[in-house]
Amino acid sequence: MMLKTPPQIHIETFGCQMNESDSELVRAMLKQEGFVFTEDRERADVVLVNTCAIRENAHKKIYVHLSELRAVKKQRPLVVGVLGCMAQNLKSELAQKEPLIDVLAGPDSYRQLPSLLTTALNAQEQGLAQKGFALDLSEYETYEGILPDRNDGVNAWITVMRGCDNFCSFCVVPYTRGRERSRDPEAILLEARDAAARGFKQITLLGQNVNSYRHEEWDFAKLISAVADQPGIERVRFTSPHPKDFPPSLIEAIASHPKICKHIHLPLQAGSDRILELMARTYTAADYLALVERIRLTIPGIVLTTDIICGFCSESDEDFQATVRLVEQAQLDSAYIFKYSERKNTIAARKYVDDVPDQVKGLRVSRLVEIQRAITADRNRRYIGKDVEILVEGDATRSSTQGMGKTDGNITVVWDKITGHAEPGTLVTKHIVDASAATLYGA
Ligand code: SAH
Ligand code: SF4
Ligand code: F3S
Repeated sequence: MMLKTPPQIHIETFGCQMNESDSELVRAMLKQEGFVFTEDRERADVVLVNTCAIRENAHKKIYVHLSELRAVKKQRPLVVGVLGCMAQNLKSELAQKEPLIDVLAGPDSYRQLPSLLTTALNAQEQGLAQKGFALDLSEYETYEGILPDRNDGVNAWITVMRGCDNFCSFCVVPYTRGRERSRDPEAILLEARDAAARGFKQITLLGQNVNSYRHEEWDFAKLISAVADQPGIERVRFTSPHPKDFPPSLIEAIASHPKICKHIHLPLQAGSDRILELMARTYTAADYLALVERIRLTIPGIVLTTDIICGFCSESDEDFQATVRLVEQAQLDSAYIFKYSERKNTIAARKYVDDVPDQVKGLRVSRLVEIQRAITADRNRRYIGKDVEILVEGDATRSSTQGMGKTDGNITVVWDKITGHAEPGTLVTKHIVDASAATLYGA
């Protein structure tokens, strides 16, 4: 049944860049079917929440959000759709617990959204409540043929592969996003050219395991070089790679192409070999350090960042000390540090015991954050007195009298706008006069 007036949709996105990119696909698919989008939740007939399941905190944040929506729905008709990893992970459990939810759609089911939402809106008009679920994972879905409806800004996300086959024992992603599949390189290059034509200066290639990209004779090194060759693109980034897929050809591609940013996010997770083995990460601490060294030798000045989990099952003080030692040895530029959060049905939840007390996890996180903060501040101070090239993004978050941009290595730089106006999307050179663990200050 057709809808009378085009329904207005408001979409809110939680989680990683892959979700940001998926929300752009969802917008494109729904617009094609005549839906319109609004930034204003108050005016929306439909609210979509694109969710994350990576840690319990992510779940909690979304539950708080859903209870806000429950209050809105008490006052007026509203269709609520929950998308993304949490929808996929909790399935009907989520829908039963939350009578508020009309539609649930997992990451591989977004093509069904226009019809699910139309059904829910029609039912609502007739005073009925009809729930619609689309939660099948697919081995093939890559949303080919749909050009994302991108957010404004300097950066365009391009998802190049979906899913993950690594099954790190702590991680829910292989269950929420299904099996790995890579997109046709020609379609990716077409998207890159389209993004350049629309004025995007930077492209970030996305995948949960981005460097395991493979399509016929194309691997990730060949793909990223080809994207960087597209005219009009100033910078190309990628996230997240896995340390297991770093052949010399990829390191050399990053080193040799001036448009591929000299930044690699290289998730470590732990510094103890025993824990790395339990996590099924497939490398040892020594392998990781050797890779860091190889990368630094081939790409001088490279910025390396990482992710670390504290308090994984059975992690002893000694194991934690091994992580501390590795962090001190590796001298990476920055790190995201998380408390281990058990996820239902993962290998760790089934095989191991989440036995590190929450307080100990917390103490380990704070200790590591403190150590890394000092290293980060130290590394950032090396830029003082140097000229660095920055891609201007806009105003600083803290003050509209300051401009903000990123270095090639993805470090944030701010400067007072009175020292020189710079248009978002332009490359400018700034002289760095000060540095903290979070920011470089340019003049
Ligand atoms: N695909 C990416 C990681 C995506 S999740 C990769 O392999 O690097 C981002 C980060 O969240 C992970 O690197 C890990 O440090 C953290 N993470 C994942 N599962 C977690 C869990 N159960 N508890 C705590 N942190 C977790
Ligand atoms: Fe999760 Fe490991 Fe896959 Fe990353 S590589 S998404 S941590 S299973
Ligand atoms: Fe979260 Fe799913 Fe991304 S669990 S981190 S939104 S892949």
